[in-house]
Amino acid sequence: MNILIVGSGVVGLSTALDLALSGERVTVVTRNYEEGASWVAGGMLAPLSEELEGDLLDLSVDSLNLYGDFIGRVEEVSGIKVFFEREGILRLGVEEEELGEVYRRAERYREMGFKVEKLGPSEIRAEEPYLSEKIEGGVLYGDEGNVDAEKLMDALLIAMNQLGVRIVVDDVVEVEKRDRRVESVKGLKDVYRADFYVFATGSWSRATLNLPVFPVKGQILKVKGPEPRKVCYSRISYIIPKEGYVLLGATSEDAGFDTRNTLEGVGSLIDGAVKVMPSLKEAELLDIKVGFRPGTPDGKPIFDAGDNYLVLVGHYRNGILWAPVSSRIALDLIQKGVRSRYLDSFSPSRFEG
Ligand code: GLY
Repeated sequence: MNILIVGSGVVGLSTALDLALSGERVTVVTRNYEEGASWVAGGMLAPLSEELEGDLLDLSVDSLNLYGDFIGRVEEVSGIKVFFEREGILRLGVEEEELGEVYRRAERYREMGFKVEKLGPSEIRAEEPYLSEKIEGGVLYGDEGNVDAEKLMDALLIAMNQLGVRIVVDDVVEVEKRDRRVESVKGLKDVYRADFYVFATGSWSRATLNLPVFPVKGQILKVKGPEPRKVCYSRISYIIPKEGYVLLGATSEDAGFDTRNTLEGVGSLIDGAVKVMPSLKEAELLDIKVGFRPGTPDGKPIFDAGDNYLVLVGHYRNGILWAPVSSRIALDLIQKGVRSRYLDSFSPSRFEG
């Protein structure tokens, strides 16, 4: 089958990888393959730290369970090692009030069967010696993980090349649809036709598909300095050690497609991180990045399937986490005709009327 994927973020490329590995002929059309949220993502695989519930939590757990194999496929095809671990994330309570909420929520997750370790002042410092002395405690969510999103994207692009997936740079301006069928995808340079279409258009989905997706700007810092042992997640900062550098994230701004790094944004990231881990004052600033999370009115993704198309957009704060399950939804539908239950949970019909 000829499959056209629109969008080259982590969702588009993971789907392209798996479809190509299953023998499909895949073309990816993208406005810019270095743009979007995936390149700027913190790479935390953190549904509990992010306080997800219900269908979003189910989706996350399904995707986490697919992650190890997914990274294995990416590494095997690309020949590139992608940093990935499941050592757990420290969810800190920086303020007393936050800590109370963290403990209460953790108790609920424990009752649901998740790996939860409640930590007091000395235990949390045994896990993470660099923490500020003012931090009284937190929780270790032992199932959570951490992946180098930038490396993952590099490896996925190389994998496309290895698998003969064509990447075409074009700006899609119109999707020609009749009832539940896509007839063609029109770009500024060309018109594209395929047997099946996958739309993974992230923050750009309003213009392309008229769906209620909007950009949520995030600025993030890349630094080199004291490396914490574990991801430290709190309301004011997340500090994410990778191999060879640390990410300090992230702002969350309603600023449209504004690509500027601002002093206010960068200042708040530095203040937050240093409050949690004072020794970061010494860190060297390597890079300041900006990206656009694809937000939706209820913070949930939008999945939709027609006769010959699938829409996988609105991954908001969890695109890296939900990439493997998104790809699985595509494979099940295209190759087995099996409709995932998530197509009902996250249907755009919830916004009608
Ligand atoms: N998942 C973290 C963020 O979107 O900032």
